[in-house]
Amino acid sequence: AEPPAEHAVPQAGDPSLVLLRRVGAVDPASLDDYRAEGGYAALREAVRIGPAGVIREVLESGLVGRGGAAFPTGRKWEATARQLDHPHYLVCNADESEPGTFKDRVVMEGDPYALVEAMTIAAYATGCPKGYLYIRGEYPRAIGRMAHAIDVARARGLLGADVMGQGFAFDIEIRRGAGAYICGEETAIFNSIEGFRGEPRSKPPFPVEKGLFGKPTVVNNVETLVNVLPILTGGAAAYAATGTEGSTGTKLFCVSGTVARPGVYELPFGATLRELLALSGGATGRLRAVLLGGAAGGFVRPDELDVPLTFEGTRAAGTTLGSGVVLVLDDSVDLAHILLRIAEFFRDESCGQCVPCRVGTVRQEEALHRLSRRPTAGDIALLREVGQAMRDASICGLGQTAWNAVESAIDRLGVFSPSEAS
Ligand code: NAI
Ligand code: SF4
Repeated sequence: AEPPAEHAVPQAGDPSLVLLRRVGAVDPASLDDYRAEGGYAALREAVRIGPAGVIREVLESGLVGRGGAAFPTGRKWEATARQLDHPHYLVCNADESEPGTFKDRVVMEGDPYALVEAMTIAAYATGCPKGYLYIRGEYPRAIGRMAHAIDVARARGLLGADVMGQGFAFDIEIRRGAGAYICGEETAIFNSIEGFRGEPRSKPPFPVEKGLFGKPTVVNNVETLVNVLPILTGGAAAYAATGTEGSTGTKLFCVSGTVARPGVYELPFGATLRELLALSGGATGRLRAVLLGGAAGGFVRPDELDVPLTFEGTRAAGTTLGSGVVLVLDDSVDLAHILLRIAEFFRDESCGQCVPCRVGTVRQEEALHRLSRRPTAGDIALLREVGQAMRDASICGLGQTAWNAVESAIDRLGVFSPSEAS
């Protein structure tokens, strides 16, 4: 059975928490608890300042997407809101499938009304009468809690034909994913909701112009959306005062692997990896490396722990923050085995639509199998060639990033190093 969300939040009760402050502190089924802890103040503020005011606040806050790509949320909302083609749709991407990512599950299980409220604000700002919450099928508790929260909000007039008596309509429908990683790609979600195979579409056109059912669609990750609540209740300037210029606010980090206290941690952007590791009790053995950004991310060495946890800081360090994966690996871990698991994962999850990814992920896995038995310079060269082809020619992010972690392990950690290669 899945552990309850609050057990995955080692900082529970810490007054400095923003996004996680209610997780473990309120009954997730109770709308009254949610309201007593500040719930629906943000929607009231949204209605007071109007859709354009909400978009202005989100733009000024500097909020960028937390699904992994860090695209400015306000720009997405602004672009959707101005489309003349109607209806507009909102899709909340809760298909959290990046290996090592479990922050959205914790939010949905522990504070489900926050997501209902945040989706309502996004819909109000961008003119969407209907929102889809696309949740990973392997999250039965999150699905149950979100479904309950949606039903209660509807019964209390917080969803439906006349939200809060303010003259706008919005409702949410839950769709369950069925286990395919690729269905977390935003355009594959559209195909999945529309009843087609979960295959990505080519972009552009971007969803803000042509998305679900061919209509303008705003797609946001769960964590991105719940950030809108503190932006509206505290104001954009106060929100942007936390973090750095390029990465404002706080971030949820999913700490896992060989670490003393795994779980979801919330820290202001700009905290260092060293600080996060200290908070989570550090590696259980001698630290070998930390994988940031998940299977599509990159490795950080023990001598690089002062890297600031920001989008720009991790980029400068040759890796990525992605969706907040912090996979700690001590020296008991066989890195070649980890790389093989990553390669196997991508090979398995490739939708097969385009050749570079369909074939490249197979070739990558084969080469890693050979390398794990006997490192050769030829197989490393082959990996680089295949990896570059996947990066340059794949349709979507899966193929484009399928070689990131392997490349990083070779170049930054010296796995299969030339001294071993013949
Ligand atoms: P992307 O960079 O193509 O797009 C990011 C977002 O910005 C999308 O919503 C896109 O529609 C929008 N966008 C980009 N340019 C735009 C423009 N000119 N106008 C309007 N909208 C625009 O990235 P993608 O492929 O959507 O996401 C890749 C990321 O997803 C990776 O960084 C990876 O870390 C992350 N990811 C997260 C997973 C999770 O479980 N959270 C799973 C797999 C990947
Ligand atoms: Fe499918 Fe891979 Fe092509 Fe993406 S890159 S469309 S997952 S085959």
